[in-house]
Amino acid sequence: MSVASPPHTWPRRHLLNIDGMTRAEVEACLDLAVEMREWRERGERPEPLRNETVGLAFYEASTRTRVSFELAARALGAIVIDLSLAGSSVAKGESLIDTLRTLRRTGVTICVLRHASSGAPHLAARETGLRIVNAGDGTHAHPTQALLDALTLRDALGALDGRKVAIVGDIAHSRVARSNLHLLPMLGAQVWLAGPPAFVRGFDDWPGVHVATIEETLDGADAVMTLRLQLERDAGAGVPSLREYTWRWGLTSERMLLARPDAPVLHPGPTNEGVEITAELAASGRSLIGRQVENGVPVRMAVLALVAGAA
Ligand code: CP
Repeated sequence: MSVASPPHTWPRRHLLNIDGMTRAEVEACLDLAVEMREWRERGERPEPLRNETVGLAFYEASTRTRVSFELAARALGAIVIDLSLAGSSVAKGESLIDTLRTLRRTGVTICVLRHASSGAPHLAARETGLRIVNAGDGTHAHPTQALLDALTLRDALGALDGRKVAIVGDIAHSRVARSNLHLLPMLGAQVWLAGPPAFVRGFDDWPGVHVATIEETLDGADAVMTLRLQLERDAGAGVPSLREYTWRWGLTSERMLLARPDAPVLHPGPTNEGVEITAELAASGRSLIGRQVENGVPVRMAVLALVAGAA
């Protein structure tokens, strides 16, 4: 592979979680993503994955993650197989592990897996011989989302050391929040959380993480991330009503007056506009939601190249 920069520090066959990664590994990945973003801008196609076949196995719905992994794999020269669950033997009851072993026997080398069951990618990494990239498992982890969030924050703020990042909303059901709670303190940020009591309980035990009122959390924040209320994971049981949730925890331009004047707003998407964020704020000049999506492709290019040992 013709990557111009020095060798990257990346000892992994899989990307399952941020937990357990080192800051050097994370920074190597973000730096490579910047390099890949520049390749794309220059129209370069070095194709370091031309000998790899990437399988996309999405057992839960996705737009951003699935599309950006497919574009990332194709940009690196890989063959891409998108396992359509409805049209595959999964619909006949074939197990996850049998399905992935079958993919491996057909020539798939790297599997990008999203699954409703927390820990499914770890099981797949142990049992299938495939290199596994976790594209989101249950409420557990979404490491590539956290990496693209970190890159987006780094683009906007520079180094995150000493920065205050507020995360507001449905923390309990959010794999994005959990991955960010590992990643952002690792990069030196102070993370403040606010949300309904049932959604933030227990998180004040995490190193570098503070749980506080929404006013304290937003006060002087350098950046604010809000999260989707995950009704499909029974989040509705944690709030008295959607109206009350929006009134107490919804992010508005008025609430953002508590943060630093230039503080950007992030959301991993998809958004419930009018619930956790107003449509006006999501479309405003301080919203980085579109940049998060754009950074998804180069970050996933970097992850695939690193997992393949091609960087
Ligand atoms: N942020 C995220 O994972 O979005 P998708 O569910 O659309 O992939």
